[in-house]
Amino acid sequence: MSSAQSMFYTNDLTTGLISPLMDLDFADDVLTGLALPQKQLHAKYFYDQQGSDYFDQICQLPEYYPYQTELNLLPKVAKELAGILTSDCTIVEFGAGSLVKIKPLLNAINSIRQFIPIDISGIHLEMACQQLQTDFPKLAVKPVVADFCYPVTLPAFGHQQKIGFFPGSTIGNFCPAQAASFLENARCTLGPDSSLLIGVDTKKSPVYLHRAYNDADGITARFNRNILTRINRELGANFKPENFEHYAFYNAGQGRVEMHLVSTAEQVVDVFGSAVAFAAGESIHTENSYKYTPDEFCQLARSAGWQVERTWLADKDLFAAYLLRNPG
Ligand SMILES: C[S@@+](CC[C@H](N)C(=O)[O-])C[C@H]1O[C@@H](n2cnc3c(N)ncnc32)[C@H](O)[C@@H]1O
Repeated sequence: MSSAQSMFYTNDLTTGLISPLMDLDFADDVLTGLALPQKQLHAKYFYDQQGSDYFDQICQLPEYYPYQTELNLLPKVAKELAGILTSDCTIVEFGAGSLVKIKPLLNAINSIRQFIPIDISGIHLEMACQQLQTDFPKLAVKPVVADFCYPVTLPAFGHQQKIGFFPGSTIGNFCPAQAASFLENARCTLGPDSSLLIGVDTKKSPVYLHRAYNDADGITARFNRNILTRINRELGANFKPENFEHYAFYNAGQGRVEMHLVSTAEQVVDVFGSAVAFAAGESIHTENSYKYTPDEFCQLARSAGWQVERTWLADKDLFAAYLLRNPG
């Protein structure tokens, strides 16, 4: 994987956004991933503007239980947090998306003064922030467009209490070792005496999981294929997305849902001047969504230096939220 140094940032003084001018790593990551014996693409590249829009559509699907299940759990979580977060605080949200899940927290916790949403999908984040600022005019909203796989430079916290928020089970996109590194980095970013509220999907029936990632309307398939359209547009490749089939399944041995794009024919694709050959039936592995039992996740969090303060389980244990504390 490439280094954070090749991402150039600029400060937009009109919006307060810190945004990447040019991601020099994208071509390198794509070519490296497509040269592996099991071809792969990093899931973070799903999220251009179109990808973020598709993800919002996925969240409205009846099959995609994680979104609504977590959203239903959050008011209860927020009510308890309101009793803990009594002095002025800053919330930092990782992978903030459309800023829907912060709202139950903002509605219940009066001490939140500042909100720092981080996301890789810049225009989508900017639009969501404008709406949030209208809905919560007294809140200081300071978006940061960045890749949270690397240490992120944040606006000043002052002396406020700090709480991280990482909903959506986005942590499941990392393999367990990367998830532990992310949790360690988040602990450093947030600093001593901070907390992290994190939403994590649980292990459950493979049939249920299969349904969630193979919706009847084919929106998840469009989301998956869109990564090829993005590579065509941004890297001058000539993928024919219609020549790749969406394939998602639960890998019980690894405890993860895997998403792939399977080549329906023998074909050669030009990517940034490199010829990439596909056999018929060969796949590109585009996403993992690891699922964790509460015991597994608590162990992972502790291995990254966090204390587990509180666990909330949704109805039928379909989803979990954890409050972690950085002992300093
Ligand atoms: C699964 S969606 C979750 C969105 C929202 N938090 C929710 O729970 O509905 C993942 C979000 O994280 C963002 N994201 C994915 N990889 C990222 C990365 N490496 N750095 C920053 N943001 C990332 C995506 O743009 C997207 O908004």
